[in-house]
Amino acid sequence: MKKEEYKKILEELIQYIDEGIYIVDKNGVGKFYNNAMASMEKVNVEDVLDKRFHEAFPEFHVGDSTMFKALIRGEATIREQQTYKNFYGKEITTVNTTIPIVVDGQTVAALEVAKDITDIRKMSDTLLKLQKESQEQPAGEEAAAGRKPRIRRYSFDDIYGNSPAFAEVVAKARKAADNDASVFIYGETGTGKELLAQSIHYGGVRKNKPFLAQNCAAIPESLLEGILFGTVRGSFTGAIDKEGLFEQANGGTLLLDEISAMPYELQSKLLRVLQEDYIRRVGGSRDIPVNVRIIATVNEPPQELIERGMLRKDLFYRLNVVNLSIPPLRERLDDIPLLAERFLEKHNERFGKELWMVSEGAIEKLKSYDYPGNVRELENIIEQAVSMADKEHVLTEKNLTVQPAVRKLRQPEKAFDDSQPLDRYLAELERRIIEDALFESGGNISRAAQKLKIRRQTLQHKLKKYKISL
Ligand SMILES: Nc1ncnc2c1ncn2[C@@H]1O[C@H](COP(=O)(O)OP(=O)(O)OP(=O)(O)O)[C@@H](O)[C@H]1O
Ligand SMILES: [Mg+2]
Repeated sequence: MKKEEYKKILEELIQYIDEGIYIVDKNGVGKFYNNAMASMEKVNVEDVLDKRFHEAFPEFHVGDSTMFKALIRGEATIREQQTYKNFYGKEITTVNTTIPIVVDGQTVAALEVAKDITDIRKMSDTLLKLQKESQEQPAGEEAAAGRKPRIRRYSFDDIYGNSPAFAEVVAKARKAADNDASVFIYGETGTGKELLAQSIHYGGVRKNKPFLAQNCAAIPESLLEGILFGTVRGSFTGAIDKEGLFEQANGGTLLLDEISAMPYELQSKLLRVLQEDYIRRVGGSRDIPVNVRIIATVNEPPQELIERGMLRKDLFYRLNVVNLSIPPLRERLDDIPLLAERFLEKHNERFGKELWMVSEGAIEKLKSYDYPGNVRELENIIEQAVSMADKEHVLTEKNLTVQPAVRKLRQPEKAFDDSQPLDRYLAELERRIIEDALFESGGNISRAAQKLKIRRQTLQHKLKKYKISL
C-alpha cells in the first residue's frame, strides 16, 4: 500500500472512531483533531488544527498538561481520569491517555486519546451523594419525620438462625464487633453478608461513625479508584477536588462488596493503603491519613478467585484477619423454620393479615427447595404467600407457590458388571458422581468442584467431556 493510502485510511479511522483524538507535532502544532474530541471539548476543529497547543487552549497551563509532559519530557500518561470545564463552562470527565511518539530516539509528536465518561461519572456521583445523605441522617430524625431510613441498619438482633454452622459464623462476627480487625466474608448471594457487615459495624465502637458500602462490580473500573480515594484537580484547569469513600468513611467502616471485581492493580493500591493508613487522591501528591475499617465480601470461594487471578493473595491475607464463611441455606435447612416464622411475622404485620403460624407441611415443602437465592429468596417466597393469603390463620403448603426442586432419588451404585469394559464403567460412575455434586450444589460449578475437591477448570473440562449441561 502506498504512503498516501495509509494516510487516508488513518484519517478516516480517526474521524469515525468514538474516542477523541488529538495529535500535535514536535512543535506542539495540532495535526489531527477529530470530531469526537471537538464535541467533547466544544471547540471547532479549525481552531485547533495547525494551531499551537497554547493558542488553541489559552486557558490551560501548558506546563501542567499531559501533552506537554509527553512532548517535552517524553512521559506517557496512561488512562488518567480528568475532570475539567470545557469552553462553555460545562464540567466534563474524561479518561485520557497521552503518549509521546518517538522515532529514532526523537519525540516527533504527541498523541492524546480521550473518552468522555461524564455521564458515568454523574451516575456514580449521584450514588455517592445518596449514600452520604442516608448515612448522615440520624435514625431519630428519620423516625420523627416519618421517613424510613434509606439504608437499612441491621444489628445482630436481626439475624436469625441456630444451625451449628451458621451460629458459629455469627459468634465469630460478634467477636469481630469488639475489635477493629479487617473482616473477609464469603457467602453466596442472599446469605446475609451485608446483614453481618452492618451488625459488626453497628455493634462495635465505630457505631457512631459512618458505615459506607461500595459494590466494586457496579462501577466502571476506571472510576473506582477515584471513588475510593478521591480526586484532585487534573492536569487541566477547572478540575475538581473531591473526597473519596475512604475520607468520607473516616473513623468508620467501609464495606467493599465483590472485591474480586476490583482491578488487580487497584487491589495492590488498596493493600498499600491498609498497610500505611493513608491515602493519596488520584492525581494528588498529599498523603491524607485515614482510619477506616474494611469489610470485604466475595460470593465465590476466595481460594478459587485467587487461583483465577481475580483476587490478590497478599490482599486476601491482609483482609482475612477475621474470616466469615456463610453456608448457603440449602446446607442448613434446620434454619428454615425459624426464618420462615420470622418472615411470616414481619410480612403479616406489613400486609395487615392474620397469619399466626406456619404449618408442618409448609415447612416440609420449604425444606425441599434448593434456594439458589438463599435467605433473600426464602423471604420473597414467604412475602408472596402472605400477601396472597385471605383470612386464614395458618400458612400451609397450599399458600406456597414455590415448586420445590425434586430431589432425585438415586439408585445405589451397581457393583461392577463385566458386560462392559472397566474404563467405560468408571467413566459412567464419574459422570454420575459429578451430576450428583452439581445437583447438591444447586448447579453452582464452584461449589460442586469444591465438594469433589477438584479445580473448577477440571470440572468444567469434565462437564464438556460428558456433555453435562446445567
Ligand atoms: N440469617 C438471617 N436472618 C434474617 N434475615 C436474613 C438472614 N440472612 C439474610 N437475611 C435477609 O436476606 C436478605 C439478603 O441479605 P443481604 O443483603 O445481607 O445478603 P448478601 O449476602 O449481601 O447478598 P448479595 O450477595 O446479593 O449482596 C436481607 O433482606 C436480609 O435481611
Ligand atoms: Mg450484599
